[in-house]
Amino acid sequence: MGYYLPLTNPVLETVDVNVTLSGLHILKDVSIGVPRGSVTGLIGPNGAGKTTVFNVMSGFLRPDSGEVRVEGRRLRHIAPQRLTRLGIARTLQGVGLFPSLTALENVMLGATVRVRSGIVADALALPWTDARQRQLRDQARAVMEEFAVLDVADRRPGELPYPIQKRVALARALVSDPRILLLDEPAGGISAGDMADLGGLIKSWAPDRTVLLVEHHMELVMDVCDFIWVLDAGSVIAAGTPEQVRSDPAVLAAYLGEEAH
Ligand SMILES: Nc1ncnc2c1ncn2[C@@H]1O[C@H](COP(=O)(O)OP(=O)(O)OP(=O)(O)O)[C@@H](O)[C@H]1O
Ligand SMILES: [Mg+2]
Repeated sequence: MGYYLPLTNPVLETVDVNVTLSGLHILKDVSIGVPRGSVTGLIGPNGAGKTTVFNVMSGFLRPDSGEVRVEGRRLRHIAPQRLTRLGIARTLQGVGLFPSLTALENVMLGATVRVRSGIVADALALPWTDARQRQLRDQARAVMEEFAVLDVADRRPGELPYPIQKRVALARALVSDPRILLLDEPAGGISAGDMADLGGLIKSWAPDRTVLLVEHHMELVMDVCDFIWVLDAGSVIAAGTPEQVRSDPAVLAAYLGEEAH
């Protein structure tokens, strides 16, 4: 059994999840719960397994053992096409926009299909009827306006500054109106001012949306999170409020180890 901490009313959970990749034991009995309506953080040094947890929670990766629970329902594995219907959306570490599609088309895709890599959708002939396309376009434009990126709707990601690409990627995650949002390093590569805006935005989503946030910027994590899980080398080593985690000796040791590399 790994580190286990029962939480009331988790909306999304991994239970004793193990993942092996290329013969390496990447996740070891990982049980992580995300309380409904919370902003929950998932932190840990580089290579700890945070993105792998997201990949399991969003059906990109099937665990060797253990399960994912959404609203208490046990799913050995989340079928990726069910993700939007389950009310779950995620952003990818980095940006992950499709380079040959416009910003608007990228956001429209967020309402319909799983967004996995830049390669798949480039080859997609988008099978939308005119009416559905109009509806999706209106939906996407409304969200883009909210994120102040409507003016770049017809541009391709490569033409846009990195922080703008990140906002387009957030708009793509939000367009399906998800109840659960998994954000993988949303503050990577953005300015301090943009980070403060992002913090405000994340706080405004809860409690209507539940957010699980992977982030290396500790000031952002400590500011927005109600609860934090800490992973190190594939195992959960600590969990608690920002105050508890900040002063936890195991957490300090894990981060000190990272700095020593
Ligand atoms: N396909 C793969 N095959 C083998 N090892 C992998 C594979 N994908 C990831 N890993 C390894 O699994 C471990 C966890 O990776 P993961 O990307 O989940 O870490 P992370 O916590 O998100 O790190 P970061 O903070 O750098 O994004 C790392 O050691 C990584 O090298
Ligand atoms: Mg990662």
